[in-house]
Amino acid sequence: MRLNIGVIKGDGIGPEIVTEAMKVLDKTGEVYGHECIYTQLLMGGASIDVHGVPLTDETIEAAKASDAVLMGSIGGDAKTSPWYQLEPSKRPEAGLLKIRKELNLFANLRPAVLYDELKGACPLKEEITDGGFDMMIMRELTGGLYFGERKTVEVDGVMTATDELTYNENEIRRIAKRGFDIAMKRRKKVTSVDKANVLDSSRLWRKVVEEVAADYPEVTLENMLVDNCAMQLVKDPRQFDVILTENMFGDILSDEASMVTGSIGMLASASLNETKFGLYEPSGGSAPDIAGKGIANPIATILSAAMMLRFSFDLDQEAEAIENAVSQVLKDGYRTIDIMSEGKTQISTSEMGDRICSYIHL
Ligand code: IPM
Ligand code: MG
Repeated sequence: MRLNIGVIKGDGIGPEIVTEAMKVLDKTGEVYGHECIYTQLLMGGASIDVHGVPLTDETIEAAKASDAVLMGSIGGDAKTSPWYQLEPSKRPEAGLLKIRKELNLFANLRPAVLYDELKGACPLKEEITDGGFDMMIMRELTGGLYFGERKTVEVDGVMTATDELTYNENEIRRIAKRGFDIAMKRRKKVTSVDKANVLDSSRLWRKVVEEVAADYPEVTLENMLVDNCAMQLVKDPRQFDVILTENMFGDILSDEASMVTGSIGMLASASLNETKFGLYEPSGGSAPDIAGKGIANPIATILSAAMMLRFSFDLDQEAEAIENAVSQVLKDGYRTIDIMSEGKTQISTSEMGDRICSYIHL
């Protein structure tokens, strides 16, 4: 089997962590008998440097032509990078939003898992995380505030800025279905997060999610207001299985959820459309402050590659082999600096990739 993978190494630590994920994909291919064909694509700051824009039509077409895209991270230091002298629509992040929209990547899956071996990194009290937690944030990714109309006007000397938040029922229904489908393969609970006590878009969200829930009698649906959810995530994260929510709430809650695991360098993500195609990237950012030092944690990107094998290529066994290799490396005490603790062995970005490769077997 040949896997055509578009690769966006991106900015900051992106190139380093993607290199390790490719190493692991190649090793998995060797062991399980598939071949990864990579096409390097430019996006974000790296694309601005070459083409003056964060995303070209060529990159969009090449991404569409591949089976899946593996991405590092994009963006730089907003204070020092020249990319941030450009108007907002030309900055690195605009490329990310555009590729999500162009490829119709409406379903963003962000797992937040507390690894047993990394319990010490969790900032919450042990009694509330005992036994660990494992949730999947399902974030709507192509609607809402991110893609509504925006304008800034001055009326009688007063500046006024507007960002529109719109959802139609079809957009809500397709992400809700995805959320319930995922829940069926997990612990069969969906917490739908909205602000239905204030927003019309949230009231429609809740109505449509409840309609979809009727088709999944085995799944328990709970509606939760977003402010309460922010609180519950630190009060009792074990209560969550699938958190289903709109774009902006999902952006905020997924950062919070990743923080309670204590290790953002461990968290993968997948952005999917209606087909098998997906864009896979770590949940963390480009961390320009540590770029080029060989200390970034490549595990989130490696686990994103595992999600790619599972969702885009149906290679469940291979995905599991990677996940097991990651667990084994942690069990054996190897750590990058971000998850380092006393008595463990600190290793570099590329050593982590090599170690994980060495544990991949049939
Ligand atoms: C994310 C990021 C992006 C977002 C930014 C970089 C535009 O925070 O993927 O969560 O807000 O979606
Ligand atoms: Mg974010």
